[in-house]
Amino acid sequence: MREQGFLLKGTEVFEGDAVEVRSPWDQSVVGTIRQASRERAVEAVAGLDKAFATTRVMPAYERQRILGEVAGRIAAEKERLARLIVAEAGKPVRTARGEVDRAAFTFRVAAEEATRQGGEVLPLDLLPGAEGRWGMVRRFPAGPVFAITPFNFPLNLVAHKLAPAVAAGCPVLLKPAPQTPFSSMELARFLLDAGWPQEALAVLPLANEDAEWLLEHEDRLKLLSFTGSARVGWALKAKAAKKRVLLELGGNAALIVCAEWEDLRGAAQKAVTAAMSYAGQSCISVQRVYVGREAYDDFVHYAVEHLQSLCVGDPMDEATDVGPVIRPVDAVRISEWIAEAREGGATVLAGGNCNGSLVEPTLLTGTQSPMRVLDEEVFAPLMVVEPYDTFQEAIAAVNSSRYGLQAGLFSCDAKEIFAAYGQLEVGGVIVGDTPTWRLDPMPYGGIKDSGLGREGLRYAIEEMTEPKLLVVKLD
Ligand code: SIN
Repeated sequence: MREQGFLLKGTEVFEGDAVEVRSPWDQSVVGTIRQASRERAVEAVAGLDKAFATTRVMPAYERQRILGEVAGRIAAEKERLARLIVAEAGKPVRTARGEVDRAAFTFRVAAEEATRQGGEVLPLDLLPGAEGRWGMVRRFPAGPVFAITPFNFPLNLVAHKLAPAVAAGCPVLLKPAPQTPFSSMELARFLLDAGWPQEALAVLPLANEDAEWLLEHEDRLKLLSFTGSARVGWALKAKAAKKRVLLELGGNAALIVCAEWEDLRGAAQKAVTAAMSYAGQSCISVQRVYVGREAYDDFVHYAVEHLQSLCVGDPMDEATDVGPVIRPVDAVRISEWIAEAREGGATVLAGGNCNGSLVEPTLLTGTQSPMRVLDEEVFAPLMVVEPYDTFQEAIAAVNSSRYGLQAGLFSCDAKEIFAAYGQLEVGGVIVGDTPTWRLDPMPYGGIKDSGLGREGLRYAIEEMTEPKLLVVKLD
């Protein structure tokens, strides 16, 4: 069992009551953490503010070295970190290893980006009287970042906050998800061991009211970078006062499968895998699939076949494809949503039952608004499949959501591809694969209720820096 304090100025502080963290798989106690008080949080912010004087001028080669060293540590400790993710998040071990690889890559790319922050030289002799002047724009670190991270990728989504902040030269106050606080502490330790200044990083499990209070009252925090639910994210934005705000929120990601797509079985398998991976607890899990009517029956057949081949159970078991959802109470909520869909006339093609925190991989059809399995972010191993007649109808169905993170398209028709790219109301369109496909340096983020701004190293660094203009007239 792991006992963890909070990290303040390089010291792990064991203060206040120990709070238990339970395994999503069997509810056993994985460890305990300590919540920091509001006073400790203010002390941490003062430390970040002071440390900013150092990090803002830290040379690029030093930021690059620190980030590269962390990437190496993550890779070297892959198995231990993967098992920690399994323990706290209930993520199947093979998927957890994939997350560790991604986190090492995230830091590696951030190390490269740290040395690539150029700028622009502007011609200014554009009107009479402006001769002899030239301009230059480069970006400067915005200041201390308040990062709030979710439970579903306890290592890599924390990496997506810490790595760009270090690359940009910004200190960070991290509030990790209360369900999964352990992996983030490992990353923080790696950063401090590599030489990131001790006061420039605090990892504080905080009460939500204290996090909100900091947002409203702490002007020394310059940016909120939040990943989590739309409800919480938009509520936090309303409290963020003068801070910049970056929101990576939820979605009910959609996939269009054109009837002409040659490898229908492959498309169905990819869709099911992307819907069920980590029990559907990713913001870009496939939730809605729209299939050209002529291919609909075959697609459903292949999807059910693949879904029934998935191994459901203990996340520590090498064979497991689908483990538990994060808490038993979430399985109860998912059951209610499935029951609501059934009562409204939807058909369960496979699965549909829950046992403790295990939710059977589930396929539904015959859904309609306002069923929550269709309209809301389900965060469950659940996929809805519906037929469409015209491509425009499919585009309209995808866009009928209040969310817009990523969408997928299986089509080889250039007209359809560019119509989808032009018309889909999302942050990214993935052709030839599912909306769940993500490479960490890609710009990642949504429109509508799915968020504001973009992550992906270069894009997150841009969010964490401010452009500043220099105009020079020498004669
Ligand atoms: C998310 O849930 O937003 C992250 C998905 C991913 O990084 O694959």
